[in-house]
Amino acid sequence: MDGTLNNAMIDVDTDRGVFRVSRRAFTDTDVLESERTRIFDRCWLYLGHDSELPKNGSYLTRAVGGRNLIFNRDGKGQVRAFLNSCPHRGATVARERTGTAKNFVCSYHGWVFGADGQARDIPGADSYPEGFAEQTCNHLPAVPCLEQYRDFWFVCFDAGAEPLREYLAGAADYLDLIADHSEARMEVVGGTQEYSIRANWKLLVENSFDGYHAASTHVTYFDYLRNSHHGELSQSGVSGSAYDLGNGHAVVEYSAPWGRPVANWSPPWGERGRAEIDAVYARLVQKHGEARANRIARMNRNLVIFPNFAIIDIMSLTLRTIYPRTPGYMEVCAWSLAPAGENEWVRTNRLSNFLEFLGPGGFATPDDVEMLEQCQRSYSNSKEAAWNDISRGMQNDKPSLVDELQMRVFWTEWNEHLNAPAQQSAVVSGGVPMVRQVRSGS
Ligand code: FES
Ligand code: FE
Repeated sequence: MDGTLNNAMIDVDTDRGVFRVSRRAFTDTDVLESERTRIFDRCWLYLGHDSELPKNGSYLTRAVGGRNLIFNRDGKGQVRAFLNSCPHRGATVARERTGTAKNFVCSYHGWVFGADGQARDIPGADSYPEGFAEQTCNHLPAVPCLEQYRDFWFVCFDAGAEPLREYLAGAADYLDLIADHSEARMEVVGGTQEYSIRANWKLLVENSFDGYHAASTHVTYFDYLRNSHHGELSQSGVSGSAYDLGNGHAVVEYSAPWGRPVANWSPPWGERGRAEIDAVYARLVQKHGEARANRIARMNRNLVIFPNFAIIDIMSLTLRTIYPRTPGYMEVCAWSLAPAGENEWVRTNRLSNFLEFLGPGGFATPDDVEMLEQCQRSYSNSKEAAWNDISRGMQNDKPSLVDELQMRVFWTEWNEHLNAPAQQSAVVSGGVPMVRQVRSGS
């Protein structure tokens, strides 16, 4: 491969209102290899939420962009991210999923690293020249770029990346809306949902903000809603718009008939807790004004930050990352985000919602998985059908929730990355990460 894929992956005819994607984009190993070097090695990728490191010394280990990383808060409170690969011979340094550590000890030969990544102790030091441990190549390798926006931490493996705030473009406004659910701060609650799907990762990216499929794929959930509302459900009641947020990010924002734990009471919840939820709404109005409070509390949004970070802000607030293992196999992680200190009853409802719709055994995800796996299978066994259609609403000035603008935004950016000049990724070897923090953009 010369590093670029030919343009035939995308077929766009604006006059005819046609936008198609080649099914090779979902099956070719060359495409996946290009995605690794041109997308996952170069884009900002979601690492974790600040609340997941509650105190100095907290750490967790997580796979991001094909690397195993340590995400931690050092003894002085500084957040850092390292490759979880010992500079001595490459053994895994932190082997637990999460914990608290002043130091990390590699279990192979016993090298010890501080929470700042610097080598603290090398067994047999007298066999090395003086100053050996201080050399940066013997420290934990820091990721080249680590930044946060509103407590969402991202990494980028391209040392020349643009600042995160620029990369986020219009998506930053939506991170503001999500962070502003809380009067204090947001926190990740509960554990991690992890599951895999026998389908290409981009199928779930599309599905994460696809408003077109809900009425047919998720008919069971809407029946359930109707029944549990005892006939009080107004219409099917899902309507809204899609927006291009720049740099490949897009969102759908819409009203829907379900309750939202942030501050939108729902009849099936019963009267218990209604006063508390209404009080939270009143405080949101006081702080943000009626229009923004209404948007925060009552509007739903499915946001995808290119390439693979979905935030699904519906009857619960789900953060989701999606990574390819092979062209036909993806791995998914999901977390529930919530306002810190929210009412216990609301929290219980939120967590039940987190499981009920988007959980791997919920009303939605098994149906979505079935659809995505069907699609993937047909790419292999119906080769003469070579294209996917993503044209809906292409000629609409104001694309709606059920149009496909958001997928076209994703695919257009994807195509640009895969046709951009090749570039090497770079990981800075050294104990001090290049930390560029953006505390708040609101
Ligand atoms: Fe870590 Fe040798 S590989 S100390
Ligand atoms: Fe779905």
